[in-house]
Amino acid sequence: MPVLTPRTAPRVPAHEVTTRHLGAAYPLLTEAGLGHKGVLVGRDMLGGSFVHDPFELYAAGIVSNPNMIVFGQIGRGKSAFVKTYLWRQAVFGRRAWVVDPKGEYRALAHALGARPVSLRPGGPVRLNPLDPGPATEAAADAQTEAEAEVETGAAIRTGVRVDRRQAEVLASLASACLGRPLAPRERAAADLALGAASAARGVPTLPQVVDALLDPGSDAAAAVRTDRVSLLEDGRDVALELRRLVHGDLRGMFDGPTTSGLDLSGPFVALDLSALYNSPALGVLMACATAWLQAALARQAASGRHAHVFVVVDEAWAVLANLGVARWLQASWKLSRAYGIANVAVLHRISDLHAVGAAGSEQVGLASGLLADSETRVIYGQAPGEVAVAGELLSLSETEAEVVPQLRRGVALWKVGRRSFLVQHVLGRHERVIVDTDEAMRSDAVTSPAFGTS
Ligand SMILES: Nc1ncnc2c1ncn2[C@@H]1O[C@H](COP(=O)(O)OP(=O)(O)OP(=O)(O)O)[C@@H](O)[C@H]1O
Ligand SMILES: [Mg+2]
Repeated sequence: MPVLTPRTAPRVPAHEVTTRHLGAAYPLLTEAGLGHKGVLVGRDMLGGSFVHDPFELYAAGIVSNPNMIVFGQIGRGKSAFVKTYLWRQAVFGRRAWVVDPKGEYRALAHALGARPVSLRPGGPVRLNPLDPGPATEAAADAQTEAEAEVETGAAIRTGVRVDRRQAEVLASLASACLGRPLAPRERAAADLALGAASAARGVPTLPQVVDALLDPGSDAAAAVRTDRVSLLEDGRDVALELRRLVHGDLRGMFDGPTTSGLDLSGPFVALDLSALYNSPALGVLMACATAWLQAALARQAASGRHAHVFVVVDEAWAVLANLGVARWLQASWKLSRAYGIANVAVLHRISDLHAVGAAGSEQVGLASGLLADSETRVIYGQAPGEVAVAGELLSLSETEAEVVPQLRRGVALWKVGRRSFLVQHVLGRHERVIVDTDEAMRSDAVTSPAFGTS
């Protein structure tokens, strides 16, 4: 082997640089890690372990929000990661509320000593998506902050005070049921019906709103300078679609006051929607479930009854498929930061944020907004066709865009704030039952969380 001497050595001037700048030049190769506060996710493919906690990172100023989005093709290990992540976080007293469209979080619920809330048409449990959020000053401030950032639609002066959150939930449910955004007249009719239902009996329910839409009062009509017949026509389509949740195939889940006695104080609450996983109405149901869950959690948070909670919407493509719902979800993500809630959405593709449309369109703005509100992005393997959009919306470097379609099961590109990591999620021996099906659940299988550092 030739010996390098000053004569034979290549004449490249030495270049000195700080590790911070080197990190920018060689992303992934020279990352310094995120510190040791959090739960162990797995192996940093470039050396060492990878530990993550969105609340710690938020407190340290590394991310500006604690929300997370997980992308990945079918079967890449998205849900397995989320389940074990919540399991490991439970060691530190973190709680989790999950919207579970496939009923696959049952094993985790059992392991954490919780019983999932199963929703099915005509079943014993009802949740009222119009349950109010907290009525505190902090809530009002947080709501104002969110509303300032998100266009909330037509403002109606009716003389009846309508809870803005309930109005937004109702409008987005109606829009999800109709499969299109509400026209201003429909929005006005819905707001007025909500006002009438609220005035009649405290917490409004969907049947009361439907009744008020189909039989508007003369006060409501006068508030928008029209007559009752015209107001009825304005709100008729909304009423007929919402009626499905009340009298149609979806009845018995969201059409009355919330069932009393639900235990929401434990470490884990899962809403199991698997009875309707194959229903075309899955998105509407998930929107109802998410609306209820966020209001309930916000009430708990405002009363100081919890520290940090993860709210997971698995299979979130179904709920984001509608622009109105996606817009509402984005607004509520902003709100939840004020309550110490980290939202986690699980999607297949970046284009699931339906959203993605012509440059400069509202859709693109919405997708970018949701991403901006989720500073931890976990990207499992994507189809090559997705990479161009993903690269643009997630600001992937050229190298990252090349890597993403090649990632094997269990390996993800993590973008945390402005930093990137390639991480292999490691399953603990005792955790397999959590990611497996119910049949695999054995009574002695899970006794205590297998991972965690602090
Ligand atoms: N890190 C891992 N190591 C080993 N096996 C894994 C890992 N992650 C997931 N698996 C296995 O891969 C299978 C699919 O995982 P999972 O259900 O999490 O995929 P998914 O991305 O959520 O799929 P879908 O899009 O269908 O919901 C599971 O049987 C799980 O046990
Ligand atoms: Mg999954």
